[in-house]
Amino acid sequence: MSGVRGKYVSAGSNGGPLELNNLDFHRLSGLIRAHSGISIAPDKAIILASRLRPLLREKDYSSFEGFVADVLRNPSEELMGHIIDRVATNYTYFFREREHFEYLQHTALPELTARLQRERCTDLRIWSAACSTGAEAYSIRMVLGEFFGERYDEWRAGVLATDISSTALAAAAVAVYSPQAVSKLPATLRARYFEQLDVPDQRFRFREKFRSDVILRRLNLHCAEVPFRQRMHIVFCRNVLMYFDLAGKAFLESRMYDLLEEDGLLVIGLTETLQTEDALFEHVEHGVFRRRRSPTGS
Ligand SMILES: C[S@@+](CC[C@H](N)C(=O)[O-])C[C@H]1O[C@@H](n2cnc3c(N)ncnc32)[C@H](O)[C@@H]1O
Repeated sequence: MSGVRGKYVSAGSNGGPLELNNLDFHRLSGLIRAHSGISIAPDKAIILASRLRPLLREKDYSSFEGFVADVLRNPSEELMGHIIDRVATNYTYFFREREHFEYLQHTALPELTARLQRERCTDLRIWSAACSTGAEAYSIRMVLGEFFGERYDEWRAGVLATDISSTALAAAAVAVYSPQAVSKLPATLRARYFEQLDVPDQRFRFREKFRSDVILRRLNLHCAEVPFRQRMHIVFCRNVLMYFDLAGKAFLESRMYDLLEEDGLLVIGLTETLQTEDALFEHVEHGVFRRRRSPTGS
């Protein structure tokens, strides 16, 4: 990294105060990776700078140098939270990668509930591990509703939805979506699970009755420990591994292994791959993996 100090990453920059130089890019991206697992390649430095610039202005910083120095001095949970909120990509939509929801409804749930019934168990635990603004978790809730129908209340079939981004979680809690966001949903699902708000601009809200079955929590997947008391039957961890480097992915995959029930299912994005497939998971369907049984059965 020699000689990087005077080089600035912003296109067309003349090294103005709100430009991010290479040294500060490396410091900041290192901190972001250590905190969240999100790995930012040097060619994305311009994007990083543009996403963080509003935060600097909000916090009255006149230069990235001052900001980065303060973050390095005190990378508090709160400040890192603000940074990750700006950096994380929250893109999502209802029934994204539809195959996974079809698999859930027509294969995973029939098999799993048959097994649980044999074991006289009615607890069904599904986790949307990087839920963003809620579309994934609410899509899962809709599938559960369609699968169980009137038998839904006979099961304790909740969805845990977590994300590192407080802003995304706040939007998930409000659960108000634009007409375009719900426009591709079948009319029956839209009518059953959403109410149309009068103002403003005719947006749609996921109904309270169904919203309350989705528990939203802030959770950093890259943190030292995850405070779960029970293992999950199915984890949707989609379109988040792609932001991690190889070590971060391997860490997250082994975490998922530990948090899944024996034979539990891990669902990842259709364009993602697992580092640890041979050791920890068995491929089932495109993007769907079954946790391998551990030799000790734990
Ligand atoms: C592209 S969205 C994916 C949303 C949804 N899973 C989907 O497939 O549509 C990626 C999400 O991962 C979250 N994320 C990134 N790093 C995370 C971490 N370390 N812990 C928890 N969530 C994280 C981001 O905040 C963002 O909401």
